[in-house]
Amino acid sequence: MILLRIFLAISFITLLLFIFVTFYNGNCTIKALSRQYDSLCVEEGNVADSLQRVEEPDPTNSSVTDSGAANTTMSPDPLGTQLTLVAPMDKHNFTALPQWKFDDIYRLDPQFKPSECMVSLRNSSNPVYKEKFIPNIQLFLQSDHVNMSEWNRLYHFNNPFGYMGFNHTAIKAAVDTIPKLASTQLLQVPTRAKDGCIRCAVVGTCGILNGSRLGKEIDSSDYVFRVNAAIIAGHEEDVGKRTSVYVHTAHSLIQSLMLHKKREAENRAIRTFIRSC
Ligand SMILES: *[C@@H]1O[C@H](CO)[C@@H](O)[C@H](O)[C@H]1NC(C)=O
Ligand SMILES: *[C@@H]1O[C@H](CO)[C@@H](O)[C@H](O)[C@H]1NC(C)=O
Ligand SMILES: *[C@@H]1O[C@H](CO)[C@@H](O)[C@H](O)[C@H]1NC(C)=O
Ligand SMILES: *[C@@H]1O[C@H](CO)[C@@H](O)[C@H](O)[C@H]1NC(C)=O
Ligand SMILES: *[C@@H]1O[C@H](CO)[C@@H](O)[C@H](O)[C@H]1NC(C)=O
Ligand SMILES: *[C@@H]1O[C@H](CO)[C@@H](O)[C@H](O)[C@H]1NC(C)=O
Ligand SMILES: *[C@@H]1O[C@H](CO)[C@@H](O)[C@H](O)[C@H]1NC(C)=O
Repeated sequence: MILLRIFLAISFITLLLFIFVTFYNGNCTIKALSRQYDSLCVEEGNVADSLQRVEEPDPTNSSVTDSGAANTTMSPDPLGTQLTLVAPMDKHNFTALPQWKFDDIYRLDPQFKPSECMVSLRNSSNPVYKEKFIPNIQLFLQSDHVNMSEWNRLYHFNNPFGYMGFNHTAIKAAVDTIPKLASTQLLQVPTRAKDGCIRCAVVGTCGILNGSRLGKEIDSSDYVFRVNAAIIAGHEEDVGKRTSVYVHTAHSLIQSLMLHKKREAENRAIRTFIRSC
């Protein structure tokens, strides 16, 4: 189990995306058992909601400046120097999603080791996937990761992609409390996996697995991921019992608690289940 502090969830959103991409080993069957629950989940504060880097500003707010149209750069040297913090900004500075020259620069993991799994979707031949997927991206945020140049770069992106509007002193102090991992490999390949492959179940929310009896199959995976308010009690036969990793955004972590309470009476379970990943 990985304990996610609320603060960590901010940066772990990237992790979530790469969990999904990284462990698609072999033939992935996406069981969209039902779409009828989707509307129930809108209020969940799910991952997609949090992926808006910069919210649409209120067009009636005359104090919102125009200076932030797409392709805005806040200064001639938007990244500043390696010695000073970039000038304060927040999402209200922008009227549209800014595009930065460094939009597609990511911290890479110096310890990265390629997978030995022959059927891994990491080496899918799909050209779109190949273009987008960065196998050696840094997954875990840990102490020392907030140095001046990294702060300045990530300060240009709204939560959960970066630190825009956040307080450098507070964030750096928080990040520096996160111990360094001995291994940056997200999940160890099980020793019984002679082929070097990892099999995962990624279980969503909202009751789609009700009546599916997929619990045993989910539990037989090497790792079980659950996202948002994953209600298990009373639904083990359908959703399984094991949890290896819970994935939350800062938003869903708080929202889930509230909604879970609200929904206890309604007792809904799990929405989507992706197997053989
Ligand atoms: C209008 O935008 C400014 C920032 O430009 C923000 O501080 C203020 O809260 C906004 N006002 C409203 C009513 O949203
Ligand atoms: C911003 O710049 C990118 C790349 O330079 C370009 O593709 C895009 O069309 C520009 N967007 C706007 C709104 O000018
Ligand atoms: C962006 O917004 C912040 C906070 O509202 C303000 O302090 C700063 O001066 C603004 N920056 C620019 C370049 O408009
Ligand atoms: C997939 O990647 C593994 C390890 O990097 C490699 O040995 C294998 O040949 C690749 N398979 C395909 C089909 O590209
Ligand atoms: C901060 O860390 C990044 C990534 O490790 C590195 O490339 C960069 O040089 C560092 N910047 C400073 C100012 O140390
Ligand atoms: C930033 O956080 C530090 C430490 O938590 C605090 O002392 C400081 O007042 C904060 N700065 C601002 C501008 O909020
Ligand atoms: C699961 O399905 C049964 C039978 O259709 C229904 O009675 C029950 O309310 C459902 N439970 C949940 C949590 O959706």
